[in-house]
Amino acid sequence: MAYSEPYDALDERTRDISRAITSLREELEAIDWYNQRVHTTKDAELAGVMAHNRDEEIEHAAMALEWLRRNMDKWDDELKTYLFSSGSLLEVEGEEGGEGTEGSSATSLSIGDLKK
Ligand SMILES: [Fe+2]
Repeated sequence: MAYSEPYDALDERTRDISRAITSLREELEAIDWYNQRVHTTKDAELAGVMAHNRDEEIEHAAMALEWLRRNMDKWDDELKTYLFSSGSLLEVEGEEGGEGTEGSSATSLSIGDLKK
């Protein structure tokens, strides 16, 4: 695992967050690679195996993301704003007020507005 800061300067929570982010990055890379193989192999059975593996990696990525939501600040707010929303993602950000606007009440309003 690569750290940009001295290992001894990182507390255990920060190390765990780094582990989770590294795992998420690895899962996303694997999803991309398996997906490319699904769409390039001429062998239908191999395509099926690669698709199965890709979909398992999507599950792993979702689990790592959920861990980050539960354990690192800001993820919960942002995921509540964007996940399962509909319409333009840029409009969602605009309704939220953009950078510097915090607060779950504004987030809930923008999601509710989109669902009308
Ligand atoms: Fe995985």
